[in-house]
Amino acid sequence: MAKGQEVERSPVWLMRQAGRYLSEYRSIRQQYSFLDMARIPALSVEITLQPIRRFHLDAAIIFSDILVIPEALGISYDIVEKVGPVFARRVESRSDLADLRAHLSEVPARLEYFYAALRILRSELASFAKWRSEAPALIGFAGAPWTLASYMVEGQSKTDLERTKALAFSNPEFFDELISILEEAVVCHLQEQIKNGAQMVQIFESFAGNAPSSLFERYCLAPGQRIISRLQAQSPVPVSYFARGAAGMFNHIGTMSADVLSIDWSTDIGWARKCLGDKFCLQGNLDPLLLLTNPRAVRREVELLMERVGPRARHIVNLGHGIVPQSNPENVRALVDAVHEFSPSLYR
Ligand code: CP3
Repeated sequence: MAKGQEVERSPVWLMRQAGRYLSEYRSIRQQYSFLDMARIPALSVEITLQPIRRFHLDAAIIFSDILVIPEALGISYDIVEKVGPVFARRVESRSDLADLRAHLSEVPARLEYFYAALRILRSELASFAKWRSEAPALIGFAGAPWTLASYMVEGQSKTDLERTKALAFSNPEFFDELISILEEAVVCHLQEQIKNGAQMVQIFESFAGNAPSSLFERYCLAPGQRIISRLQAQSPVPVSYFARGAAGMFNHIGTMSADVLSIDWSTDIGWARKCLGDKFCLQGNLDPLLLLTNPRAVRREVELLMERVGPRARHIVNLGHGIVPQSNPENVRALVDAVHEFSPSLYR
């Protein structure tokens, strides 16, 4: 679908499909820290497969995090209950930049655990083909430079990105260098993922909606497109781009060469198609909070989504952001079942 092949129904997977809403995830989480779960390949593989065993999803996204890149560049972090990711220190000085750049060449070795997990996952997923029509596809991912830079400059999740914007507006030379280091790290990380079995890669620009157009063009669009071009020059693996909150930048995003554009839940996907044209496969965009309701409500929303998207549209069903921990797994089942029930009629 991402490359335009014929299908009989819409493919479906869900952002953050592995995680705290699953009891089998919580029981591992009781024994290990989040970072151990990401770093030990056997655990990461197990957690990635948990939703695949439960639901008839068409793709598995490796269980990891976007912040493994700053970590590999020497800035450690932790996931703190009710706060989210917190870094040991903020990036603020020229010497911080020099340190980061000095770590660039270590990225593949420091993230070897990620690639080991991908290799195991590819062979584990192949065995699902015995009882499903096809093996679920393996998806790799990375954060985009602007989003990673924001976390590194703020030191933790922030909603307004005050420090990041102050730095980007007032010291563009500094910010250009930070983005350039991250661009290299992201390309390297995604190329390694492709070499080790990823069949699609998704770039998460989660803070796109925080960038005004001048910063968006310089720090999201330009590096994002360079990353996509460099990946596409090396392999035919489709590249998906998720710029959250950036429907107002569709004029720019429509010029990119991503194969798939992931649309957030606040955007009308029918209108997105009109703005972006037919060259992209679109992905999305159910509201994750729908999964807090009930199977009937979920079915209705899936049906409405199918109507908005229309017949023979290149479309991968997904949420418009990640699953939240309070979600009911039965609603995920209802979502997948509804896609299987309603979407074949779009392709007849
Ligand atoms: O989608 C998947 O199932 C794959 C795994 C995945 C996780 N994070 C697992 C995770 C992916 C693709 C991500 C990406 C990610 N991480 C993004 C981009 C997507 C987005 O949400 O916009 C961002 C911004 C991060 C940074 C990050 N890491 C956040 C915001 C959090 C949640 C913190 C919280 O307390 O809710 C994490 C931790 C994290 N990443 C968890 C999971 C399952 C929860 C960890 C736990 O068990 O405590």
